[in-house]
Amino acid sequence: MYLWNSHALAAVLLMSAPHAIVSLSCTQFSPSPVPIPQLPDYFSPHHYLDATTLFHTEAIRQTLTLYPYIIDGRAFPSLSSIFATDAVANYSAPLGVLNGLSTIAATLEQALASFPATQHLLGPQTVRICDSKKAISVTYYRAVHLLPQNGTVGPGNILGGDSVLYAYGQYQDTWEKRDGLWKIVYRNLVYMAPLVTGIN
Ligand SMILES: *[C@@H]1O[C@H](CO)[C@@H](O)[C@H](O)[C@H]1NC(C)=O
Ligand SMILES: *[C@@H]1O[C@H](CO)[C@@H](O)[C@H](O)[C@H]1NC(C)=O
Repeated sequence: MYLWNSHALAAVLLMSAPHAIVSLSCTQFSPSPVPIPQLPDYFSPHHYLDATTLFHTEAIRQTLTLYPYIIDGRAFPSLSSIFATDAVANYSAPLGVLNGLSTIAATLEQALASFPATQHLLGPQTVRICDSKKAISVTYYRAVHLLPQNGTVGPGNILGGDSVLYAYGQYQDTWEKRDGLWKIVYRNLVYMAPLVTGIN
């Protein structure tokens, strides 16, 4: 009788919690993209409570901060500072799943070649250090792509465009520490809205 009552109480408590705190395992984070409502279950605040974690988190944050410099600066060979040689990146349609650093670099270079300029702004970011060799992160981004006008294409021709293409999305990255450096081994680029054009 007492047992039944405590179970009933537990059931009521669970039901009254709007969203019970769950901690999902890092191994579930890839390869499939994580639905946005599940993200809090991977990044609950109790993961951030010691200094070693913060040290690695900052190393990952600084590494990922190179990404806009490399993409917007068309320094594609430097993607090797961020992605492991055998990294796999799902950039969503139309680029799809890219296997290996050289394919990722070549595909991004070609995809961005027609924009006179781009700017990738990184937004909210969470990093979870799973163990001494593995981590996961989510980073919101918004990317502004200047559209070419009058057939003017190629980097550096910033005056060519007064209309722009906006991309809204997030990078869901799985990291491994290799030879002392954190590198992305799996990326899901998840769009959060359709690509939209506007006036700059
Ligand atoms: C790649 O990402 C897209 C968009 O998030 C998703 O629909 C697709 O299932 C992913 N593909 C793989 C192989 O995970
Ligand atoms: C595009 O071409 C039109 C027609 O030649 C010209 O009037 C306009 O100034 C050009 N725009 C740019 C941005 O070069």
